[in-house]
Formats: sequence, C-alpha cells, structure tokens
Amino acid sequence: MRIFLVGYMGCGKSSLGRELSDRLGISFIDLDRFIETRYQKTIIEIFKEFGEKGFREKERICLQEVSSFENVVIAVGGGAPCFYDNMEKMKENGSCFFLDVGEKELVSRLKKSKQERPLLDGKSSDEIMSFVMGMMKKRRPYYENAQYLIKGNDIKIEDLLLRVKKIVNDDM
Ligand code: S3P
Repeated sequence: MRIFLVGYMGCGKSSLGRELSDRLGISFIDLDRFIETRYQKTIIEIFKEFGEKGFREKERICLQEVSSFENVVIAVGGGAPCFYDNMEKMKENGSCFFLDVGEKELVSRLKKSKQERPLLDGKSSDEIMSFVMGMMKKRRPYYENAQYLIKGNDIKIEDLLLRVKKIVNDDM
C-alpha cells in the first residue's frame, strides 16, 4: 500500500498523514523532511542556495526515491504535484488524495506559520491572502487530478481512514 497526500501548504498533510500511518500500522514519510535529511539542509536553506528551480529538482529526485517504498503514507510539499510529471508518477505508484481545505481557512493557518515557509516569509497578511488565492487557482487543476478528494475545513482522521480502507478493500 502506498498513499500520497497532496494539497496546498497548511491543509494538514503532515499531521493527518502521521495519524493515518499510525492507524494503518504503516510508515510515514514527510517529503520535505526527507529532502532535508538527504541534503543536510533545511528547505529554507535549499531555496536560498539553489533557488526554487534547484529545490524542485531535489524534490523530484526524492519523490522518485520514496515512491518505491512499500506500505507507506507520503505527505508531499504543496508544490510537488505541479512540477514535471510528479502527479502522474504518484498516481502510477499509489493512491493519491487531495486534501481540499478552503482558501480562507488556509490563509488563517498560514499567517501563523509563514516563517517556516520560504514562499510566504516576509509577506504581510494581505499579501499572503492574495498570494494563496492566486496560487490555489493555478494549482487546483493539478491537485484535482488526484484519484481521491477529501473536502472540508476540518478534515477528520476517521473520514480519511474510512476512505483509505474502502479503497484497500476494493483493490483486494
Ligand atoms: C511548498 C510547500 C512546502 C515546501 C516548500 C514549497 C509549495 O511544503 O515543500 O516550502 O510550493 O507549496 P508544505 O506544503 O508541506 O508546507
């Protein structure tokens, strides 16, 4: 079993992914943390040193690597599905879930954690709002290409778990 969680920054991929893996008794990988360990640099340092293009290349390489792991939930960074053929590869290699949290809710969460995110750092609240709105418009078609969609401003682990279990059972 290989499950990919995709969606915009702040949609809860990492926290839901960790809980989901616990409940399923399988491993969890946060792709950003995997990249940081692989290159011994934080995401912020990678952006500063190599620019976004350099980060996307590293993200792609690491995504390919983790896509061969068995029995794992993988939370990928918000931009990963929108570059190269990453989304197609994730769908080929597993079940891809789009966690569709509303833009306004995302903005309020992201205002609290902008320092950890190079794309938002230094932006005012209004700038974050227009950045997220604009970016979601561009990214939504990529995310919607996922096989499964879970929508809501407060996605519950039980809902995600039920959907995953149904898929696993249908596949058997
Ligand atoms: C990014 C999202 C981040 C991280 C990087 C770029 C993006 O991950 O990969 O800062 O382009 O949306 P999270 O979605 O886990 O915050």
